[in-house]
Amino acid sequence: MLTITQQLTERLGKAIQKIQNSNIPEDYSATVTAAADTRFGDYQTNAAMALAKNLIMPPRELAAEIIKLLEVEDLCETPEIAGPGFINFRVKENTIVSRINEIRKCSRLGVENTHSPKKILIDFSSPNIAKPMHIGHIRSTIIGDCLVRVCRFLGHEVIADNHIGDWGTPIGQVIYGWKNHLDQEAFNEDPIKELLRLYQMIKEKFESDQEVNKACLEETVKLQSGDKESLELWNQFKDITMSGSQKIYDRLGIMFDTSLGESFYDSRLGPLVEDLLCNKIAKESDGAVCVFSNNELEPKNDPLLVKRDGNWIPVPCIVRKKDGGFNYATTDIATIDYRVNEIEAETILYVVDDRQSLHFRQLFEVARQRKINADLKHVSFGKILGDDRKPFKTREGSVPDLSTVLQEAVDRARKVVEEKSNNLSEEEKENVAEKIGIGAIKYAELSQARVSDYVFSWDKMLSLQGNTAPYMINAFVRTRSIFRKLGDNLPKISEELSITTDAERAIAIKLCQYGEIVPEILTDHRPNILATYLYELAQTFHSFYEQCPVLSTEGITKNTRLALCQTTSAVLQHGLGLLGIFPPEKM
Ligand code: ARG
Repeated sequence: MLTITQQLTERLGKAIQKIQNSNIPEDYSATVTAAADTRFGDYQTNAAMALAKNLIMPPRELAAEIIKLLEVEDLCETPEIAGPGFINFRVKENTIVSRINEIRKCSRLGVENTHSPKKILIDFSSPNIAKPMHIGHIRSTIIGDCLVRVCRFLGHEVIADNHIGDWGTPIGQVIYGWKNHLDQEAFNEDPIKELLRLYQMIKEKFESDQEVNKACLEETVKLQSGDKESLELWNQFKDITMSGSQKIYDRLGIMFDTSLGESFYDSRLGPLVEDLLCNKIAKESDGAVCVFSNNELEPKNDPLLVKRDGNWIPVPCIVRKKDGGFNYATTDIATIDYRVNEIEAETILYVVDDRQSLHFRQLFEVARQRKINADLKHVSFGKILGDDRKPFKTREGSVPDLSTVLQEAVDRARKVVEEKSNNLSEEEKENVAEKIGIGAIKYAELSQARVSDYVFSWDKMLSLQGNTAPYMINAFVRTRSIFRKLGDNLPKISEELSITTDAERAIAIKLCQYGEIVPEILTDHRPNILATYLYELAQTFHSFYEQCPVLSTEGITKNTRLALCQTTSAVLQHGLGLLGIFPPEKM
């Protein structure tokens, strides 16, 4: 079952082959995409513009030539040339009808499985021990979960890995804090809060106070050499942190396949560094062990070099410090080995904020030097800002704790529900508020271009208007209410469809495009492609619903409109599901 884009792309490819000109690059593959402006057509291609230079022909002339060779009468009207040389396609009714019927019969709603399934490991969320999850973790957690869902749906084998920061100096700091400054009463009341207090207090002293610094490092060494008391404390801290995180994951409906954490790799670090030395990937420098540039890359692309005063100087990746301790990078290199050799992952996605971009560039360069055979990608994202465009803070000026943020979202959603849904029972209202509140947080995240910073605005994310979860959920609920009203009187919807009005045509074309959009999310790991599509679908549906009565019509018109409503309902529900959002039936 081919999407309309695939069908048109195939035909376009054949037409271009017929040109038989040796100046067409061998690897050239023509593409057809959904039209940016639907006034001029449903689909378009820039093939003529792309090839004009090679063929030494004005693009519009080449476009006319291509149109002559295109055999698409069965699919669309005669293609038209627009602007500098775009070719626009307007799809025929029968093409739309048969595609809609195919989608209606298919549980995947027209989305094909990938032709090259991979084993993909997605490293996301990854909070650190002794710190409650805060707003900063939300992006990694929600984007990562969405990518897990999309990759799985497209037929990849996915391992969702929560790479918890449960090892290293910070743990030594908390152990030291615990032994010297614990407020037992505060701990009994709110253990994670007390751990955080200790961590923050010691972290500050660690920088300024030599003694504290030394004592913390000693605690770290003690822990890492297997001291029983240290290990017991560590386990306790880990349990406390993870039970807090687990409550958040449960509320968000997020699951992991594995969460080995950094500690798991500890025993591998020593042998790894020896191996790096042995293979001449790393060398000793100033008592430390480092990986340097091997000058295979252009300096400007080499993360192990930096330009200062006009000269390229080394910024090595330190894998063993002077004092013999290992780094975050060492653990990440060992983690790659485990993931590639033992889990047999072919692709690893790291969903981590962009402040760590140098770390990942260096890590991938070390992997390249070691000829690691895997596709490694940093799926990075920007910061969450407050209304003042500074990093989002609570009114008291601290970084908001994630469980408080989620509760506030649900409380605020409850107000929306009180205003809008007066015919629901208390229990239903509670359920709807939970779904809208959590949905709003997720949707606000996933509808952003992930690379940029975004402003966290309660009012915006909970508005019933605009590109928001409440708007999307409302559209879905509307589709459901049609079928609820019909109840047992829902006629059997047949394949006999007639798409006559512009509004019917617009929604039908949008529905045909679901199968074209979903695979695109993985091109650059951008969930907002799906959110934008769903938003447009919901908008198109709203105007279709306003212009085209459904229940009061008869015959083929009613059949067609019911089919469109049902398919919209299914696509909205499925698409939101890929974003990790599960809309209620009523609101
Ligand atoms: N725990 C780290 C942090 O909070 C994120 C870990 C990301 N994953 C990784 N393999 N380095 O900054």
